[in-house]
Amino acid sequence: FEATLTVDREFEIAPLDRRMFGIFVEHMGRCVYTGIYEPGHPTADAQGFRGDVAALTRELGATLVRYPGGNFMSGYNWEDGVGPREDRPVRLDLAWYSTETNQVGTNEFMAWCKDVGMEPMMGVNLGTRGPDEARHFLEYCNHPGGTALSELRKSHGAEQPHAAKLWCLGNEMDGPWQICRKTPEEYGRMALEAGKLMKMVDPTIELAACGSSAHDMPTYGIWEDRVLEHCFDVVDYISLHTYFSKYKSAAAMNAGSQDPADLMSTPEFFSQIDTTGHFIDEIVAVADAVAARRHSKKRIMLSFDEWNVWYRARHAEHLKPTGWPQAPRLLEELYNTEDALLIGGVLTTLMNHADRVKVACMAQLVNVIGPIMTEPGGPAWRQTIFHPFAQAARWARGTVLQPVLRSPGYTHASHGELPYLCASVVDDAESGTTALFLLNRNLTDSMALTVNLRGLGASRELVEASQLHHPDLQACNTQSDPDQVAPSPLAKNAIEIEGESMRITLKPASWNVIVTR
Ligand code: AHR
Repeated sequence: FEATLTVDREFEIAPLDRRMFGIFVEHMGRCVYTGIYEPGHPTADAQGFRGDVAALTRELGATLVRYPGGNFMSGYNWEDGVGPREDRPVRLDLAWYSTETNQVGTNEFMAWCKDVGMEPMMGVNLGTRGPDEARHFLEYCNHPGGTALSELRKSHGAEQPHAAKLWCLGNEMDGPWQICRKTPEEYGRMALEAGKLMKMVDPTIELAACGSSAHDMPTYGIWEDRVLEHCFDVVDYISLHTYFSKYKSAAAMNAGSQDPADLMSTPEFFSQIDTTGHFIDEIVAVADAVAARRHSKKRIMLSFDEWNVWYRARHAEHLKPTGWPQAPRLLEELYNTEDALLIGGVLTTLMNHADRVKVACMAQLVNVIGPIMTEPGGPAWRQTIFHPFAQAARWARGTVLQPVLRSPGYTHASHGELPYLCASVVDDAESGTTALFLLNRNLTDSMALTVNLRGLGASRELVEASQLHHPDLQACNTQSDPDQVAPSPLAKNAIEIEGESMRITLKPASWNVIVTR
């Protein structure tokens, strides 16, 4: 079937903030321990960080990393993770029913961030703690010297301030599972006061307040409105979290149902690409309504700081291991082709909302719902979802252009007609490259796509043309077959360039990245 995509150099959405390609490292399961950190692993560096995971992290190309949680953060004492390792306390982690050894803490994490080339997005504990701890943690991290806390950091070997610019004010404070959950009034006031103190300590930082922990929370919308009513003046971002699922109901997911009747069809699963766009639009509307009530020109931006597919590893034993284990196998979701396609589609939605989504973190990085998997003492490999993320992080630079689509589609019960084509176009005036990100979500038919790149210059040369497609939507990358699902070069006869136009054949159920100059 035929489809067209038209962009015009003059019709811009916004410059793309590269912090959109963030990921997340939480102290939970095997994300930190036997994930990024495993002293004694054959590839470990002098600090104990795995070299193979660091190399894959660099290849993933993420720009930002959120740390130290997640739910973990709401019970975390940052002081436990600094100073000589042998003196650090072993604690119960109430968020994940695990034992936390604190062998990795702030200074090790910051050094690792620098090594892999990512900016940190730090978080403060507004669960068991509050404004006092928040200001102290920030002072420890960012103050140059001459105070007890900044000198303490130096005595721990971190002579230079970490200069962490982006901070989360707690995590998912609306969730009943959260350690010291709060009402929107309690949290909004706490976020205001903690944020106020933190900006006194370091006025250069930016702050993200917690939005709803999911689109279907009972307090969704009201939570954001009430919270921002309190802390609008001190915060810069409101967070959004989403985990995509194939389960039709939360009850079936929590029970780990294996009944195919409890699962959505693939087209229904893919409709969550569109739900994500509506979610963003709704939160923008709520944030702007708060601004309007105050007659304020300030615009709160969005931090989509947890998003991924997560539904298989979501039943009881994944959330509540018994016996307080250290680094248990939690949320070790095995991703397939279908997931990679959805991730590609969601990335187009995020890019097409670049005017308001400035920060986003795919959750998480390693083992725990991660694009990278490891075995203790063994190899590390790329899950299917690694690929669309790495391609977007590599090629999406510059300004996002408004895509105008003409594509047949399918009917969805609540969204109406959805186009088979999902697309985003990012143009980098500096290097002259234009990157197209294209998902064909038709499962059976190829798409004959005509692309018109108006005003972007004729005689374009191809820099990159690849396609991620696998005949089996359930195919996964495993330790024994780590590259089963991966992009491959687009066949030469699948793409023709003529002046400002291109003709591209997109296979059914395929994710395609085309870069021209
Ligand atoms: O990413 C896993 C968990 O999901 C995080 O700890 C929490 O913030 C969310 O509920």
